[in-house]
Amino acid sequence: MRLLVTGGAGFIGSNFIHYWLKNHPSDQIINFDNLTYAGNLENLESVKNSQNYTFTKGDIANAKEVRYAIKNVDVVVNFAAESHVDRSILDPAPFILTNVVGTQILLDVAKEAGVRRFHHVSTDEVYGSLDLNSKEKFREDSPYRPNSPYAASKAASDHLVRAYHATYGFPITVTNCSNNFGPYQFPEKLISLAITNLLEGKKVPVYGDGLYVRDWLYVKDHCAAIDLVLQKGKVGATYCIGVDSAIENIEVVKKILKILDQSPDKIEYVKDRPGHDRRYAIDAAKITKELGWQPKYNFDDALKLTVDWYRKNKSWWQKLKNKQFGKYYQEQYHRR
Ligand code: NAD
Ligand code: TYD
Repeated sequence: MRLLVTGGAGFIGSNFIHYWLKNHPSDQIINFDNLTYAGNLENLESVKNSQNYTFTKGDIANAKEVRYAIKNVDVVVNFAAESHVDRSILDPAPFILTNVVGTQILLDVAKEAGVRRFHHVSTDEVYGSLDLNSKEKFREDSPYRPNSPYAASKAASDHLVRAYHATYGFPITVTNCSNNFGPYQFPEKLISLAITNLLEGKKVPVYGDGLYVRDWLYVKDHCAAIDLVLQKGKVGATYCIGVDSAIENIEVVKKILKILDQSPDKIEYVKDRPGHDRRYAIDAAKITKELGWQPKYNFDDALKLTVDWYRKNKSWWQKLKNKQFGKYYQEQYHRR
C-alpha cells in the first residue's frame, strides 16, 4: 500500500510514520509537509534513508504540489494543520488557509486521483466545552460548537470531509481525538512547554485558575487507533478517540514537577486564554466496540516516558526554542 501522510514532519504525523514503518514494513510512505515552524525533519532522522519512505516538501493548499506527490497513492492520512489554539487567537488567518482551504484542495486532488481512502485527523475541540460539574462526554453525534479559531477551522475541515462523502461518495473516515502528548511535540503545548521550561530552569505558565480539564492520550495510542480505522473503519464514519484520564491542568503540572523533583514555586499563574474551554472528555465506546481499540498506556507511565524523552533529547527541543519562538513567547506570555 502507498500512503500520502500530510503533515508528517509534525508531532503526531512523525510518530505515525515511525509507527507505520514499524508495523507495516512493506508499505510505502510519502511524507508531504511544507515545514512550518512546527514541521521538523529531525523527527524522522532515523528513517530518512529507508527505502519505503520519501519526503516531499509541499503545501496542501497548493493543488499542483499535491498533484505531483499523490501519484499512485492508495490512502491519504491528513495530519497537516496549524494546530495551536493560542497561535490561532493571535492570528487566525493561517488556520483558515491550511485547515479549511488546504483540506478542500487536498480533498479535490485526492478525489481526482481516485484514492481508496481519505482519512482526516481531527480534534475533540470541535465539540466545544463541557461543564466542570457535568458527567457528559463528547461522542460522534455531539453537536459542533467550536470556540477558538483553531477549533472552528478544524470543524470546517471536518464538515468538508463529510460533505465530500455525502455529495461525491468519496471514501473518507474522520477521527476526533483528545489532547495528545509524547515525543516530538513542539514545546508550545501544555505538557511539552512545562517539561522544557522546567528543564531550562524557567517557570510554567498556568492559565487562569488552572482547573481546566483535558483528556490526555499518549500519541502512540492515537497512532494505533488511526491504524485500526484505516484497516477496519466504516467508510463515511467518524470515530472519537480518547481515554478516561481527564485531569486538571494544575494536576498535570504538579505531576511533572514531581517527576523532575522541582518545587511548586515553579508554577506561575498567568492571564487566562480568551474563550478557554473548561473541560473536554471523550466517550470512546464506538471505536472500542466496533474496532476493538484500547489504549495501552496509562497517563502516569506515559508522562514519565515523555519527561524522560525530553530529558534525553535536549538538543532536539533547545533548537526549537529559538529567536522566533522567543518572539511568540513574549507576545503570548509577556515574559521571556
Ligand atoms: P503539529 O503542529 O505538530 O504539526 C503539523 C504539521 O503540519 C507540521 O509538520 C507542519 O509543517 C505541517 N503543515 C502545516 N501546514 C501545512 C500545509 N499547508 N501543507 C503541508 N503541511 C503543513 O500538529 P500535531 O499536533 O501533530 O497535529 C496533527 C493533526 O492532529 C492536526 O490536524 C491536529 O488538528 C490534529 N490533532 C492534534 C491533537 C494534539 O493534541 N496535538 C489532538 C487531536 C487532533
Ligand atoms: P494546550 O496544550 O494548548 O492544548 P488545547 O488548548 O488544545 O487543549 O493546552 C492544554 C490546557 O493547558 C488548556 O486548558 C490550556 C492550558 N495551558 C496553560 O495553562 N498554560 C500554557 O502555557 C498552555 C500552552 C496551555
